[in-house]
Amino acid sequence: MNSFSGRTVLITGAGSGMGRSHAQLFGERGAHVIVHDVNAASVAETVDAITSHGGKATAMVADIRDLPAFRTALASAIIPAGDPDILVNNAGVGGRRLLVEDIDENTWDDFMAVHVRGAFFATQAVLPAMKAKRYGRIVNISSQWGLAGSPSASHYAGAKAALIGYTKGWAKEFAPFGITVNSVAPGYIKTPMTIHSQRSPEVYAERIKPIPIGRGGEPIDISYAVAWLASDEAAFVTGHVLNASGGEVI
Ligand SMILES: NC(=O)c1ccc[n+]([C@@H]2O[C@H](COP(=O)([O-])OP(=O)(O)OC[C@H]3O[C@@H](n4cnc5c(N)ncnc54)[C@H](O)[C@@H]3O)[C@@H](O)[C@H]2O)c1
Repeated sequence: MNSFSGRTVLITGAGSGMGRSHAQLFGERGAHVIVHDVNAASVAETVDAITSHGGKATAMVADIRDLPAFRTALASAIIPAGDPDILVNNAGVGGRRLLVEDIDENTWDDFMAVHVRGAFFATQAVLPAMKAKRYGRIVNISSQWGLAGSPSASHYAGAKAALIGYTKGWAKEFAPFGITVNSVAPGYIKTPMTIHSQRSPEVYAERIKPIPIGRGGEPIDISYAVAWLASDEAAFVTGHVLNASGGEVI
């Protein structure tokens, strides 16, 4: 088991679903976790879930689309937590399936602002300190749809594909500074984002039919992948996209 003792990890969108699961795992393994989300109540719940088990966590509330607010909140969070050694770009929005002709400008802008612009500027915010330390781990949360494409969700799939592009470019750009950059591409995971497919056993059974492993993923399935990529054991792995989809996309 990897220890993150002495490390600080910033997880965006850590108030819910997989982000909360990642935060709890890093907290259990000794990291000081900066718990970021736009939702203050859910940030407080994640912080409490870590600290009530003896872990270290600092709250960071900001809309990732509002860069001045994000930077100000990060500046406050690093006072107790220290500069992040690890960044998990996890914040995301899901939503209805839409055909291209039904995607309006606001919806398109919002998906790009949270997933693509958000991850870019969160990375820019932590990069100078990582470069100065000559150590860093960045994990971008993409999606199986970023790898394989998705009919009627191209606004989502396109944003997730952009994160794979960042992963490969940043891996090359940051490697001389001891910073690795990797991506995890989850398949179908049971979180609030996918709640519509969990509303009845019949709907759930239909959704998992194309998954060869025969079940939907749990948030912790993805947290273990993120933790390994963020660990010292993965020091020679950079620019990789780890497909964690139970075989749905290969
Ligand atoms: N659930 C799946 O099947 C699945 C599959 C592949 C990839 N993903 C990706 O995994 C990541 C986590 O998703 P999840 O399933 O845990 O969903 P979730 O809805 O439970 O969590 C997403 C979190 O991001 C936060 N967030 C959204 N907009 C924000 C903003 N503007 N500023 C700050 N925080 C914001 C939300 O408040 C929420 O806490 C997302 O990037 C998602 O696209 C999910």
